[in-house]
Amino acid sequence: MNTPLDTMFVLGSVLVALVHGESGQIHWCYNNASCNENVWVSAPLGFCNGTRQSPLNINTTSVKGNSSLIAFNFTGFSNRSTMTTIENTGHTVKVTLGDGLVKISGGGLPGTYDVQQFHLHWGNGSGVPGSEHTVDGKRYPMELHIVTVKSEYKGNITLALTDPEGLAALGFLIEKTNDSSLPKSWKILTSYLPNVTNSDQKANITQQFPLDDLLVGVDRTKYYRYLGSLTTPDCDEVVIWTVFKDPVKVSKNLIDLFSTSLYTSDPVLMTNTYRSTQVPNGRSIMTQASASSPLMTADRLFLLSLVMLHVLLWERDA
Ligand SMILES: *[C@@H]1O[C@H](CO)[C@@H](O)[C@H](O)[C@H]1NC(C)=O
Ligand SMILES: *[C@@H]1O[C@H](CO)[C@@H](O)[C@H](O)[C@H]1NC(C)=O
Ligand SMILES: *[C@@H]1O[C@H](CO)[C@@H](O)[C@H](O)[C@H]1NC(C)=O
Ligand SMILES: *[C@@H]1O[C@H](CO)[C@@H](O)[C@H](O)[C@H]1NC(C)=O
Ligand SMILES: *[C@@H]1O[C@H](CO)[C@@H](O)[C@H](O)[C@H]1NC(C)=O
Ligand SMILES: *[C@@H]1O[C@H](CO)[C@@H](O)[C@H](O)[C@H]1NC(C)=O
Ligand SMILES: *[C@@H]1O[C@H](CO)[C@@H](O)[C@H](O)[C@H]1NC(C)=O
Ligand SMILES: *[C@@H]1O[C@H](CO)[C@@H](O)[C@H](O)[C@H]1NC(C)=O
Ligand SMILES: *[C@@H]1O[C@H](CO)[C@@H](O)[C@H](O)[C@H]1NC(C)=O
Ligand SMILES: *[C@@H]1O[C@H](CO)[C@@H](O)[C@H](O)[C@H]1NC(C)=O
Ligand SMILES: *[C@@H]1O[C@H](CO)[C@@H](O)[C@H](O)[C@H]1NC(C)=O
Ligand SMILES: [Zn+2]
Repeated sequence: MNTPLDTMFVLGSVLVALVHGESGQIHWCYNNASCNENVWVSAPLGFCNGTRQSPLNINTTSVKGNSSLIAFNFTGFSNRSTMTTIENTGHTVKVTLGDGLVKISGGGLPGTYDVQQFHLHWGNGSGVPGSEHTVDGKRYPMELHIVTVKSEYKGNITLALTDPEGLAALGFLIEKTNDSSLPKSWKILTSYLPNVTNSDQKANITQQFPLDDLLVGVDRTKYYRYLGSLTTPDCDEVVIWTVFKDPVKVSKNLIDLFSTSLYTSDPVLMTNTYRSTQVPNGRSIMTQASASSPLMTADRLFLLSLVMLHVLLWERDA
C-alpha cells in the first residue's frame, strides 16, 4: 500500500542511490563482462572511479621510510575462541569474529581498531595466482584480509564509511609450499569449506583456533603502509592499508581447495577473486624508516663539508 509519503521516501532513496552510485542492490562480479571491475568504474558503482583506490602494486624501490610506522599491538590474536561464523558471500569466504574481542593499535594508526572479519582473495588453484596487492609486479597465490573498524564507531559501519581513516585493513600475502596440509590452522579453516559451498551459506565455527595461528612465519613489525579503499564495491576511500612483507606459507593442496569448493551465486566455481592494481595518483607507499645507513647521504655530506670548511678557515686564521 503506497501512501504519497512512501512514494516520496522511495523516490528519495533512489535519487540518493543514483547520486552516490550505490551498488547495494546491484549485482557485481569478478569474471563476467556484464558486472566485472570495468563496470564498477564506468557505472560507476559507489566510489570505484575515485582517486585513492586499492589494491596497488608495491614498487619496493620507490617505497619511502617513515619513523611513525612502529610495531602494532595485537590484542586477542592469541585467544582461541574469537571466531563465530564462516560464510560464502558469493564473492569470497568470510569469517566473522565476536564483537570487541580482537583489536589492533600502534602501527602508526590513529587509535584502536576492532577486528570484525577476515576473508580471502585467490586465483585458480596454486598454479594461477590471485593476490590483490602485488610486489614488484609479482602476484602471490592468495591474500588474506583482516578488516578492522575504528573502535570509537562501536561497529557502526555506516559511520566508519564517512571517515577517511574509518577502517584499517591488514593484508597477508600467501605463498605456496609443497608439503601437505600445513599449517594446521589452515587445514582447520579449509575443513569448513564443504559446509559453505553455495552463495549465502553460513556455518558456525566449532573447532576453534587463534588468529595468530593463521599468520605463522610473518614478522609483523615489517610492513608497507598507504591510504586506499575497499577493493570491492562500493570501493569506499576510507581504508588505512597495511601489507606485511613476509608471506604466510600454505600447502598447495589447501590453496587448491578454495577454487574447487566454493560457488558464486551464478553458480560457477569461485575463481580469480581479485581486483586489478589501481593507479597510485601521487600516493606514496611507506615502510619502517631504515636503520641509519652507513653510506653518506647527501645531507650528511653537506654537513661534513661545512665542518671541514670551518676547520680550514680556522687553521688559516690561526
Ligand atoms: C554473465 O552475466 C549475464 C547477466 O547476468 C548472464 O546472462 C550470463 O549468463 C553470464 N555469463 C557467464 C559466462 O556467466
Ligand atoms: C566518478 O563518477 C561520479 C559520477 O559520475 C563523478 O561525479 C565523479 O567526478 C567521478 N570521479 C572521478 C574521480 O572521476
Ligand atoms: C619503481 O620505482 C623506481 C624508482 O622510483 C622507478 O624507476 C621504476 O620505474 C618503478 N617501477 C615500476 C614498475 O613502476
Ligand atoms: C577469549 O574470548 C572469549 C570469548 O569467546 C572471552 O570470553 C575470553 O575472555 C577471552 N579470553 C581472553 C584471555 O581475553
Ligand atoms: C600497546 O600495549 C602496551 C601494553 O599493553 C601499552 O603499554 C601501550 O600503550 C600500547 N600501545 C599502543 C600504541 O596502543
Ligand atoms: C608517516 O606516517 C604517519 C602515520 O601513519 C602519517 O601520519 C604521516 O603523514 C606519514 N608521514 C609522511 C611524510 O607521509
Ligand atoms: C581453473 O582451473 C581448472 C583446472 O585447471 C580449469 O579446468 C578451469 O577452466 C580453470 N578456470 C578458469 C576460470 O580459468
Ligand atoms: C549508525 O550511526 C548512524 C548515525 O549516527 C545512525 O543513524 C545509525 O542508526 C547507526 N546504525 C546502527 C546499526 O547503529
Ligand atoms: C615443489 O614441487 C615442484 C613440482 O613437483 C618442484 O619443481 C619444486 O622443486 C618443489 N619445491 C621444493 C622446494 O621442493
Ligand atoms: C559441516 O558439514 C558436515 C557434513 O554435512 C556436518 O557433519 C558438520 O556438522 C557441519 N559442520 C558445521 C560446523 O556446520
Ligand atoms: C549456530 O549457532 C547458533 C547459536 O550460537 C544456533 O542458533 C544455530 O542453529 C547454529 N547454526 C548451525 C548451522 O548449526
Ligand atoms: Zn579483501
